[in-house]
Amino acid sequence: MVSVKTLAESPELTSIPPSYVHAPDPGELIDPDALQDSIPTIDFSLLSSDSPHQRSSAVHELDRACRDWGFFTVINHGVPVRLMKEMMDACERFFNQTEEEKREFEGRHVLDPIRYCTSFNALVDTASFWRDNLKLFVHPQFHSPNKPRGFSEVAAEYSKRVREVAMTLLQGISESLGLKEGYMEEALNLESGLQILVANLYPPCPQPELGMGLGPHSDHGLLTLLIQNQIGGLQIQHGGKWIPVDTTPYSFVVNVADHIEILSNGEYKSVVHRVVVNNKATRMSIAMAHGPSLDAVVGPAIESKSPAFIPMRYGEYLELQQSNPLHVKSALEAVRIRTV
Ligand code: OGA
Ligand code: NI
Repeated sequence: MVSVKTLAESPELTSIPPSYVHAPDPGELIDPDALQDSIPTIDFSLLSSDSPHQRSSAVHELDRACRDWGFFTVINHGVPVRLMKEMMDACERFFNQTEEEKREFEGRHVLDPIRYCTSFNALVDTASFWRDNLKLFVHPQFHSPNKPRGFSEVAAEYSKRVREVAMTLLQGISESLGLKEGYMEEALNLESGLQILVANLYPPCPQPELGMGLGPHSDHGLLTLLIQNQIGGLQIQHGGKWIPVDTTPYSFVVNVADHIEILSNGEYKSVVHRVVVNNKATRMSIAMAHGPSLDAVVGPAIESKSPAFIPMRYGEYLELQQSNPLHVKSALEAVRIRTV
């Protein structure tokens, strides 16, 4: 395996190898006038407020954001800017290691707790993505490469702080869905919930119109919290169009993932997103995926309505999503009974 980083750095590269070429989507609509700040903003400090009035209006805002967009920016989250910078820096140092050093962390199986690779799943991708990535299971057990120096310590602190933010957001979502207190924690066994740190590197691509950073997909877990450098590329599908996501530095971009759609019986939908590449600068992002416990069997929580999804063990769902070609919401379609 040659990393995209090495490929992109070779001086003679003027076109991309055929295996990286993606067919353009004929029905594609990109909204050039889409407002850069179009996704809603959630002020996290209000959600953790002691004032019942402030809290209930924050839960209402969260409900609107999940219902109307499924993607939102979280500000005033309390995770130190210093820590966010250190985490980005540690990931950059990881990718800057030699091929040989990184190869040590190549996983064999989609559920290996440490997995460095190129594209999404090289064994099944029909065309490769212009992306190198490192995936780490950081909760309930913390796994990390032992190099570069200091990586593991920063990753442990960052994972812990982001998880706290995610748990508060999930509590707000549980409330906005009208679930009984404690229901979500128990049904998903959240205390042992799987948290995955995904560091993504998208080097400059000589033919950005043919390459693709990460193809259209939804995330498998409950909620993903993402940070990124100043180089854009993330787009979400909204109202039949692709809308670029640009955010305030040091905020989190949060999205609803498949297991919130399942749990809410389709009330909140996971959102299809992708990453496009450019020929000028390297994009880097760190996505933190928060899911149920691997052994939790998850189905719709709202019993009064007829269920729209078949319950499935989260570990099985994860394996299904990760060992098939990445394609919009194909994993969710496998458990869907009816469209809501
Ligand atoms: C992901 C993802 C977006 C990005 O890792 O699932 O969608 O901007 N990443 O890298
Ligand atoms: Ni994603």
